[in-house]
Amino acid sequence: MRKKVTIVGAGNVGATTAHWLAAKELADVVLVDVVEGVPQGKALDLQEALPVEGSDVTVTGSNDYDVTKDSDIVVITAGLPRKPGMSRDDLLKVNAQIVGSATEAAVKQSPNCILIVVTNPLDAMCEVARQKSGFPRERILGMAGVLDSARMAAFIAMELKVSVDNVYAAVLGGHGDQMVPVPRYSTVAGVPITELMDAATIAKIVDRTAKGGGEIVALLKTGSAYYAPARAITEMADAILRDKHKILPCAVRLNGEYGLRDLFIGVPCKLGAGGLEAIVQLKLTADESAALTRSAAAVKELVEALGAISGA
Ligand code: NAI
Ligand code: 2OP
Repeated sequence: MRKKVTIVGAGNVGATTAHWLAAKELADVVLVDVVEGVPQGKALDLQEALPVEGSDVTVTGSNDYDVTKDSDIVVITAGLPRKPGMSRDDLLKVNAQIVGSATEAAVKQSPNCILIVVTNPLDAMCEVARQKSGFPRERILGMAGVLDSARMAAFIAMELKVSVDNVYAAVLGGHGDQMVPVPRYSTVAGVPITELMDAATIAKIVDRTAKGGGEIVALLKTGSAYYAPARAITEMADAILRDKHKILPCAVRLNGEYGLRDLFIGVPCKLGAGGLEAIVQLKLTADESAALTRSAAAVKELVEALGAISGA
């Protein structure tokens, strides 16, 4: 039987993720959105593309959750995107309500699913999904690290004029301006970029990576990035659906790893059929550790603000 992936939010990120999943024939896809006609229209359009692509999955659109029953993965992209001048954190209040209600409705239909949270502010929204689903940490993953690493990898490949296939980029921490790109663990054909570029060039790449989301927002003016985010979500879904035991950077709830506890933060994770299988503990220098602690403090502040908002 084919796997099933529900995507809540049929906007730019949700619909583009459906496109990637369907084109790769990874799973039947259900798109859910509050706007009448939009998930149905996008699903039908995509379904009609699949004979040309040669993919036999089904794509369904709906305004309710009945059709999402028994999904293997539920991706939550519902919410408002960032507008110019708006920080990810401004989105906190409104998106917490949306993610909370979407999680409750989705897990009622699919109590055994793996949740991939995408809505911003990402790390705090993972905590909302945790509270509303009651799921163990293995089944709540936040997507940000794959995107942030892909951006850094793109910048490294452009700078060194090498194939992206040769580049591995490491980014840890929360999905905010304080994320922690780690040049020491970022490599080209196995060689750390610290041996391939001067410090000033690396600093520019690190800065551009941390501000990568804002760079796209400033260009688009009416929304935020979606091609790279959608491809990143698809990579996580692929690792789970095909039980690949693949190590990808994801936001997960730490339980003492990296000296952090009870907080979602981006770290390298091994993903397989059950979701999170293991967390990879990188050995960090004192400076890298301090940067991760600062990033975690920023996430903690948001989660605490969330508690104040919901009265929890
Ligand atoms: P979008 O505005 O194109 O789509 C959002 C969709 O959610 C809309 O179609 C809207 O109707 C729908 N929606 C709103 N409330 C809903 C509800 N209660 N139930 C179901 N659907 C609902 O926005 P886009 O560009 O797709 O971004 C979605 C979210 O993902 C934003 O919060 C954005 O900041 C975040 N994002 C996160 C990234 C990450 O790395 N974690 C990367 C890119 C975007
Ligand atoms: C991004 O990094 C908006 O968080 C989103 O593109």
